[in-house]
Amino acid sequence: MEMKKIGVLGAGMMGSEIALCFAMNGYETVLTDVNQELANKGKEKQSAALDRRIAKGKMTEDQKEQILGRVSASGNVADMADCDLIVEAVLESLDIKTNAYKHMDMVCKPETIIASNTSSISITKLAAAVGPDRAFIGTHFNSPASIMKLVEVIPGLQTREETVDTVFEVLRSIGKEPVRVKDVVGFALNRMFHVFYLEACRLVEEGVCSVEDVDKICLYGLGHPMGIFKLIDQTGHDLNMNVDEILFSAYGERFRPSPQIQRLRDAGRLGRKSGAGFYEYNK
Ligand SMILES: NC(=O)c1ccc[n+]([C@@H]2O[C@H](COP(=O)([O-])OP(=O)(O)OC[C@H]3O[C@@H](n4cnc5c(N)ncnc54)[C@H](O)[C@@H]3O)[C@@H](O)[C@H]2O)c1
Repeated sequence: MEMKKIGVLGAGMMGSEIALCFAMNGYETVLTDVNQELANKGKEKQSAALDRRIAKGKMTEDQKEQILGRVSASGNVADMADCDLIVEAVLESLDIKTNAYKHMDMVCKPETIIASNTSSISITKLAAAVGPDRAFIGTHFNSPASIMKLVEVIPGLQTREETVDTVFEVLRSIGKEPVRVKDVVGFALNRMFHVFYLEACRLVEEGVCSVEDVDKICLYGLGHPMGIFKLIDQTGHDLNMNVDEILFSAYGERFRPSPQIQRLRDAGRLGRKSGAGFYEYNK
């Protein structure tokens, strides 16, 4: 199936970046949200992301205009009716997502593939909201999506193999490295990521080494581009804690939430976005 036009539902942090990935690679893209104003804000985020590239000498103003010229922002789901693929990136709520799928299922052409960017909800459960003929799959992009290459591709029970193949192909066409993952809680990346940082937290809680020294181990011993505490200050301790709780209830002890992260979350020290987490930041 040839992919020409891509829709993205939800113009927040992930949706605006996901739409940008497609527009940067020549696809006509429709970025939608609950109203025109929020959709426009998504496009403003894209513009700011491209300005950062221009400032680093990685892009010209002309290229930026061409990319943004491929994105139409809209507050109307029906504007995605003729899209070949729609990536949904609305809030992480079963009700909000399934209501949105029912609406898309009604207004979109029969061949439109719906892909969810959920981090924690079962793809099989989400797919139950659409009719039996609708192609549905999980595509879990990483943040920031226009930079990170990995996308976990998660077929649900009802997903056809041809949909998996088509989605792999379109993701490769935008320079991503898709990996196939089963529909299990946390998929693969979040299981690896959370178990790793929870152990890092335990090292600090047990007084084995400091936050700064754990980050040095990541940089100079493991070859990571960034220390784990710097990284989880970026993902945000509200989101970290939510996912820890989901993983803990699914898998038990190995994902027991860290009291340090809990304290930071309760104190509103959410990380970079709130100006402080494990580290202090200039607001
Ligand atoms: N934040 C991350 O690092 C990350 C990483 C991977 C996956 N995800 C997943 O991506 C999804 C989006 O997360 P985010 O961080 O971009 O959230 P966000 O809050 O930044 O954006 C969500 C957007 O969805 C819009 N929205 C809500 N209901 C809608 C509806 N019915 N129709 C259209 N738009 C609607 C909101 O107005 C908002 O603009 C979630 O499922 C999340 O779990 C997030």
